[in-house]
Amino acid sequence: MNQGMVTAAYIIAAILFILSLAGLSKQETARRGNQAGIAGMAIAVLATIIGDGVSSYGILLVTVGVGGAIGAYLARRVEMTQMPELVAMLHSFVGLAAVLVGFASYLTPESHFVGAERTIHDVEIYLGVLIGGLTFTGSVIAFGKLSGKVGSRALILPHRHMINIGIGVACLVLLFMFIGAAPDADSLGTTEHSGKGTGTFILILMTLLSFAFGVHMVMAIGGADMPVVISMLNSYSGWAAAATGFMLSNDLLIVVGALVGSSGAILSYIMCRAMNRKFLSVIMGGWGDTAGGGVDAGDEEHGEAIGVNADEVAEMCRNADSVVIVPGYGMAVAHAQHPVSELTKRLKDAGVNVRFAIHPVAGRMPGHMNVLLAEANVPYDLVLEMDEINEDLASTDVVIVIGANDIVNPSAQENPNSPIAGMPVLEVWKARQVIVSKRSMATGYAGVENPLFFRENTRMLFGDAKESVNGILANL
Ligand code: TAP
Repeated sequence: MNQGMVTAAYIIAAILFILSLAGLSKQETARRGNQAGIAGMAIAVLATIIGDGVSSYGILLVTVGVGGAIGAYLARRVEMTQMPELVAMLHSFVGLAAVLVGFASYLTPESHFVGAERTIHDVEIYLGVLIGGLTFTGSVIAFGKLSGKVGSRALILPHRHMINIGIGVACLVLLFMFIGAAPDADSLGTTEHSGKGTGTFILILMTLLSFAFGVHMVMAIGGADMPVVISMLNSYSGWAAAATGFMLSNDLLIVVGALVGSSGAILSYIMCRAMNRKFLSVIMGGWGDTAGGGVDAGDEEHGEAIGVNADEVAEMCRNADSVVIVPGYGMAVAHAQHPVSELTKRLKDAGVNVRFAIHPVAGRMPGHMNVLLAEANVPYDLVLEMDEINEDLASTDVVIVIGANDIVNPSAQENPNSPIAGMPVLEVWKARQVIVSKRSMATGYAGVENPLFFRENTRMLFGDAKESVNGILANL
């Protein structure tokens, strides 16, 4: 395949990726968006393989075969609840790839740029490895936090801001040393590449610093701020891919990296707005922010929670004119979306006005609840965002909270010392009656006590969400 055809294929792939992003922005078109993305990626991979840049087809076939088989196996096995962890893990691969490509690009004997070109190439390598390094370890820690292998509590080291500034300054100084260590034109092609030895040493040093920074940055972020971190790492992985594109002079990788990087940055901004947090304060682990991600002491006196059974909930629903369902992470854990969909249908058939209230950070990844409800064929027009439905909650007869906790916690508004203080929440306590379906009195992801459970108009429906909803259905 000649270079012109490869370029044409890359342009088509880039257009398909843009169409994919556009499609993914709405539930109705998300499936088509996904298909456009798959088609774009297939074209991009094929064009790259058949293009001039690839010669070792044997190695390529083996690596693509092994990698593809592992990917297919994991994708088939992964549960919806494990999706955020999988995404974090995939981000870490992008970061690691950028680091490895950076080193390969620096060490390869053919990379004999000179003068300004050399400096530009070295800066590309340096930045690619830097972003890749912190994306790699940051994503590994995010994977640990999301899978529960690492505690969700924020690790606040003494002088943590000084540590971050120190690493930043060290990386900047090393950048100048790295550029200065480039071999001069005369020594190229000879064995006297002494500059490369020093440069490699500096690159390794900076890589270790970027690894440390990635770990420290994500460890310092408390549970409730994790959504911002996830979208931020998504953005970093895009920039790491773009940097890889610069190193390999691959235009498509630059375009795709920039698309992922900028859409991740926009998502981070949206997440920050949803959490009422300042982006800088989140990534600095609560810089200038007293309410940043600790764990509630839980020493408030709450009284007693009142239990309810499925029969009574069915009765309440039968007598209601309006019902709002608030799904959360527990609905995903319990795989309760199908019974919830059936409950919606039954209540609608009985003339009840049923709607869903979706908090922007419900679950463990952006759009988590929307995906589950779409999978269970809940009509899109019943699914409303927090801003669209919050005001209606005060005039709602029954709110059923299914496996949600932090996103309906009134202490975000009422307790200025709460780790989630200031985070906008669904004001379900304003409804006439609130039913909370969960297994115990345990806290949610942010580890914060929830006074909602002790309110006069709240009833706790204890048990696995799927069984509880099936119980309501059986009694309707
Ligand atoms: P959470 O606050 O985590 O609460 C989920 C609740 O579900 C838990 O309290 C748990 O209580 C219950 N639960 C678990 N398994 C259940 C089951 N089988 N049946 C019934 N209930 C079950 O979830 P949320 O309200 O959706 O809030 C999301 C939280 O995750 C926020 O703090 C958010 O910041 C964080 N987070 C979000 C994201 C994104 S991007 N959405 C990413 C990372 C973190 P029991 O154990 O008592 O059952």
